[in-house]
Amino acid sequence: MDLFRKKPLSFAEKITSQLKRELYLWDIVFIGIGAVVGAGIFVITGQAAASYAGPAIILSFILAGIGIGITALVYAELCSAFPLAGGAYNYTYFVLGEFFAWLVGWNILLEYGVATAAVATGWSGYLRAFLKNNFNFVLPNALSGPINFQQGTFIDLFAFIGVILIFLLVTIGIRKSALVNNFIVVLKLIVLFSFVIFGIKYINWENLKNFMPYGWKGVWSGASLIVFAYLGFDALATLAEETKEVKKTLPQGLILSLIIITFLYIIVSFTLVGMLPYWEYEGKPDALAYAMYKVNEKWVANFISLGAVITITSVMLVMAIGFTRVLYALARDGLMFKAFSEVHRKYFTPYKASIFGAIFLSLFAGFLPLKILAELINIGTLFAYLIIGVAVMLLRKNKEYNPVFKVPFPKIFLPLNLIFLLFIMFGLPLETWIRFAVWSLIGILIYFLYGYKHSLLNTEIQK
Ligand code: ALA
Repeated sequence: MDLFRKKPLSFAEKITSQLKRELYLWDIVFIGIGAVVGAGIFVITGQAAASYAGPAIILSFILAGIGIGITALVYAELCSAFPLAGGAYNYTYFVLGEFFAWLVGWNILLEYGVATAAVATGWSGYLRAFLKNNFNFVLPNALSGPINFQQGTFIDLFAFIGVILIFLLVTIGIRKSALVNNFIVVLKLIVLFSFVIFGIKYINWENLKNFMPYGWKGVWSGASLIVFAYLGFDALATLAEETKEVKKTLPQGLILSLIIITFLYIIVSFTLVGMLPYWEYEGKPDALAYAMYKVNEKWVANFISLGAVITITSVMLVMAIGFTRVLYALARDGLMFKAFSEVHRKYFTPYKASIFGAIFLSLFAGFLPLKILAELINIGTLFAYLIIGVAVMLLRKNKEYNPVFKVPFPKIFLPLNLIFLLFIMFGLPLETWIRFAVWSLIGILIYFLYGYKHSLLNTEIQK
């Protein structure tokens, strides 16, 4: 049994060059903002401030931003060396071999899949608030939250239906055109900037006085939760085959979009915790709109709710597409059940992967709370980043490895990357680690019982 068998580079040559290169730097930046800015800033900021960090959530954002920033540099280096679709999973396949590639693929699958569900629950919160405040439409309590007998909620109905609808769109092959994406990103920026512009005059310094109510430990746990707001940038790496002058454009795009996003997060979270005492955000899924309601800016609050519903949909779509494509890639390589790589004859999409996503993930979205989902996603994704961080360090020793972009000061940044990732992972609660262990165990079992035997490498290697 060879757990470290690698994909030969000839595989890479086979997959390349079928797609058209038509994305420029600003397309990449816009796609980045479209994929990343979603439920994290709109929903989780309030919850992380209320239950972990207090106003110091701003520091959590900075901490997580630095950590993810370094990882983005690593990603940029890898995509400048291997400009291939498939992203992290493929890189690992070439460098560390099949077993680790499977672990990365399995965890990225968790990231995209559960993120679709998590983002749907955030979307649902804003939708409920919008319908209530404008049309006085209120769902029965039992249908308006994840299963929780104390609060009398049973299912988050909108989130449940939202996931099914999104996968339906993915199945019929809706790919947002660049134009739609640009519109959504501009709307997202307008919504977030309006929040800051209208909110800034309500900042009450009293609210910021008790800046670190839970100390550094709180900042740390806050960073571990809020790192969710940065996830999704890795989806950019999957555009490598469609980017012009990819080796230069992609690293620049990754870094630029991350700088813009971090700046945005800092000013939005500062305004949020300045407007109301942090504990008021406990259990409020529509934190930004809620704050505006409380200060009587009803019009702005409505605009934010509607804007959030529209723009969070785009994150859901990117995540759902990501989920089906990773599942498709794993199945195409033989590591997952073949059915998931079947492409619909009319729509040309991996429809069985979509159906599976719709059934499975709608249950997640309907019955589990956002915080649990987000923490589970974070740990899996950070673990995948960790493997990739190690892969780059190993690659650096290989003379044939020749990336156009290199992480600067590698002696500092490469180890720092691993340290930061571990640090953020260890800030997550024990239950999250246990869920992660169970998830990994299921993955490892699937690999040994199915993937290893059916891997395409079994046949290709013998050729
Ligand atoms: N970063 C994405 C979001 O915040 C997952 O919604």
